[in-house]
Amino acid sequence: MNTYIGIDLGTSGTKFLLVAADGTILAENTQTYAVSYPHSGWSEQSPTLWFAAATKGLKELLKGQDKSAVKGISFGGQMHGLVVLDKDDNVIRPCILWNDGRTEKQTKYLNEVIGKEKLSEYTGNIAFAGFTAPKILWMKENEPENFARIAKIMLPKDYLAYKLSGAFCTDYSDASGMLLLDVKNRCWSQKMCDVCGISEFMLPKLYESYEVVGTLKKEIAEELGLSETVKVIAGAGDNAAAAVGTGVVGEGGCNISLGTSGTLFVSATEYKEDKVNALHSFCHADGGWHLMGCILSAASCNAWWSDKILETNNYAKEQEGLEDLLGKNGVYFLPYLMGERSPHNDVNARGAFIGMRPDTTRKQMTLAVLEGVTFALKDCLEAAKKNGIEVKKTKLCGGGAKSPLWRKIVANVMNMPVEIPQTEQGPSFGGAMLAMVGCGEYGTVQEAVNGIVKVKETVYPEKQTAMLYEKRYGIFKKLYPVLKEAYADME
Ligand code: XUL
Repeated sequence: MNTYIGIDLGTSGTKFLLVAADGTILAENTQTYAVSYPHSGWSEQSPTLWFAAATKGLKELLKGQDKSAVKGISFGGQMHGLVVLDKDDNVIRPCILWNDGRTEKQTKYLNEVIGKEKLSEYTGNIAFAGFTAPKILWMKENEPENFARIAKIMLPKDYLAYKLSGAFCTDYSDASGMLLLDVKNRCWSQKMCDVCGISEFMLPKLYESYEVVGTLKKEIAEELGLSETVKVIAGAGDNAAAAVGTGVVGEGGCNISLGTSGTLFVSATEYKEDKVNALHSFCHADGGWHLMGCILSAASCNAWWSDKILETNNYAKEQEGLEDLLGKNGVYFLPYLMGERSPHNDVNARGAFIGMRPDTTRKQMTLAVLEGVTFALKDCLEAAKKNGIEVKKTKLCGGGAKSPLWRKIVANVMNMPVEIPQTEQGPSFGGAMLAMVGCGEYGTVQEAVNGIVKVKETVYPEKQTAMLYEKRYGIFKKLYPVLKEAYADME
């Protein structure tokens, strides 16, 4: 049977999956790496690190496997990162990542001087600090020598595709997060290129996520022991790829991802724009569109709390015995460790615990972290509701979805059934599925979903617990507005 490779270029590491055409996972491998935080609120990673991880990870993935069966490779990738190459293809500076908050000034300029209305008209979105266009403006202002050297601008996963195939390409879903794409008409916005002082020649060629962009370069094929005919398929931003991997395509499906970031993703067959731009309006990897809310710190809050503060990586043990507390916790956590994107758009927001008393326990604080992240995602669900979107159930994926406790919290806070897909590796599985479609294994992304995505378990909300959470969410909602001004004054 033919096999396909899905690569998820994430923030804490890159995951590699080898998947048979019937969806069976044959092998997996993860290469981890660090994020560098050179200043408070900044976050960067070197693209050369990703490529080194890719060659190592692919070699390990393919050990002992039938390499002649591999027909295609595709990707899900962390979105919005600014990767810049010079005319000789040297990486000019480390990639400025999706959760970097340095562009407050440029974001303000875009939203207030160019104006939200114009930005919405050109791209379907307003500016958020993590988007690519404000980063280009930041470089222009703060690193003019670097800016002058730019020959190519691309997104993280596109750097891998370029190194593997030589194709300078991107896909519509990932390009949507640059604030340079006219999302409705699926083309680059000349107006936005002018605003950023760049030329369209610097931007990659646009493809649908399931389209073939090229084949493996000879030297790469030789190094990996693969055929030069292996096709490279454009791939998608990690959230669109995850939605494919969990079967959220077509009209009205919902996927929640609890990864380093947290997202609430609603698929659509027609272009839709959030009236108040709290949610992003992006292209989907199935040829359609989606609305998405993104919180900058999700499972990363639990990792921070457990690893750094409690100094344990035994998350399951920390979460033992917390079920009895569901809906009854008097401690609240605001998960804004990296500032916040949806819906607050505030780089100055910070994490906070509120509501402690002398008898507050470690367990309550652990639970508050999981609940706070989920409440922040509920803010995104509320924003979707304000746009008339009715979500009746959701898929759940990402590292946080492995926790049975967190699954219950999501079902009760959102007050809807939560479906856990058989394959939790959303973006890498979705990447492999896009490769299958590109190679003709399935006619469309929808057909690939019908053929191979399965639900292994559904978690239902409990009436009483959901009611208690509704009340607590009401309190959570009041906290950010109270702190907003103080946040702005903090260092
Ligand atoms: C989405 C976003 C994050 C990153 C994480 O807008 O910024 O989900 O894609 O990898």
